[in-house]
Amino acid sequence: MKILIIGSGGREHALVWKIAQSPKVDKIYCAPGNAGTAQFAENVNIKAEDVAALLRFAQEKKIDLTVVGPEVPLVLGIVDQFEKAGLIIFGPCKAAARIEGSKVFSKEFMIKYGIPTAQAGIFDNAKEAITYIEEMGAPIVVKADGLAAGKGVIVAKTKAEAIEAVKAIMEAKEFGEAGNKVVIEECLMGEEASILAFTDGKSIVPLVSSQDHKRAFDGDQGPNTGGMGAYSPAPIVTDRLMEEIYLNVLKPFVAGFKQEGIIYKGVIYAGIMITKKGPMVLEFNARFGDPETQPIMLRMKSDIVPIFEAIIEGKLDDRLIEWDKRAAVCVVLVAGGYPGKYAKDIPIDGLEKIEQLDNVMVFQAGTKQVTSNQLPVTSGGRVLGVTALGESIKFAIENAYRAVKMIHFKGMQYRTDIGKKALKYEK
Ligand code: AMP
Ligand code: GLY
Repeated sequence: MKILIIGSGGREHALVWKIAQSPKVDKIYCAPGNAGTAQFAENVNIKAEDVAALLRFAQEKKIDLTVVGPEVPLVLGIVDQFEKAGLIIFGPCKAAARIEGSKVFSKEFMIKYGIPTAQAGIFDNAKEAITYIEEMGAPIVVKADGLAAGKGVIVAKTKAEAIEAVKAIMEAKEFGEAGNKVVIEECLMGEEASILAFTDGKSIVPLVSSQDHKRAFDGDQGPNTGGMGAYSPAPIVTDRLMEEIYLNVLKPFVAGFKQEGIIYKGVIYAGIMITKKGPMVLEFNARFGDPETQPIMLRMKSDIVPIFEAIIEGKLDDRLIEWDKRAAVCVVLVAGGYPGKYAKDIPIDGLEKIEQLDNVMVFQAGTKQVTSNQLPVTSGGRVLGVTALGESIKFAIENAYRAVKMIHFKGMQYRTDIGKKALKYEK
């Protein structure tokens, strides 16, 4: 088979790495990819958002299966366009991807199908939104309706901060059209977990649980980032809690889309807050999480290609998916200054030493290979995801940080407490 993977982050490197192990696969392309994907795939210089060019490429190369990483092409309708052209592609169609593309659609969907979520108001004008904030008080959460590259959610500690967010989104149009509407919701308290699940539109099969770390600094301090690390399993998600999430979130999710007459095929990511009242959904994403995918792929024992095929054919069966019992931890190494301004084109040292280690994989994100006889250089804020397996989270943490110490680039930063939150559940 010839496979095309769309995207250029650590998530895509993990997917390329996993897909490359399938005996069904002869050739992999990654658009646009990074220095890590280039080890297993031929990188193609087409942006993930350029659906027309991706379609032309897939037709020209007679691609047998396309796997979409990021949300933007999904929301633009890449799946519909590929399918119309007779191509096979893994991911939800445009109507289904609204679950991530529109916070208003997502909130209305959850309310309609009884999926537990924060109480919310939906507004298309700033004045009413501000009145609602005045009535509800703080803390309160303001969400731009559309995609805003992960910056459209403001967890406001004060009313003033929330009002400022509404003005930035709806009046200054900081995120453009994405700010025509807002969702304003109750601030939930608890610990977060990520539950990803495969669905073919009929059955839904959860993947192993995971948790990411969004804040830049240790102890969940500092600004929000694209993700500083992740681990799997998330021991806060006990078997009982998983059952509850399956019954109250995942099953109604599939039933809801069926009821709407939309077939949701692909992977669904539920961001969940484990509150005192039980698990509540913060958001749905229509794709794999980044960096959660990195530890999850390390733990997946089965061939992923037949799983993708089964989902596309509507024949998903949980017997297809086998997991490594061990835990996995991913520590993200970022450029100095990230998520603010940072330098690029810095040589990365030590990657070859990691190749000799068992149970450790470095999934690359913001990297690029200038010439084959030189070191790869940094090309983004999140640079590498050092991901390791271990008999427990504790050992996976040790293995990951031992590998981190072997890598160096100027300005390199990382959190030293990835996975630490899980340790209180381990004996
Ligand atoms: P979202 O894109 O909706 O997941 O929001 C991004 C992040 O904002 C989440 O991972 C949470 O950390 C936080 N967040 C979103 N909604 C809420 C809420 N209702 N209460 C507390 N935190 C929230
Ligand atoms: N890890 C958060 C996300 O993928 O949206």
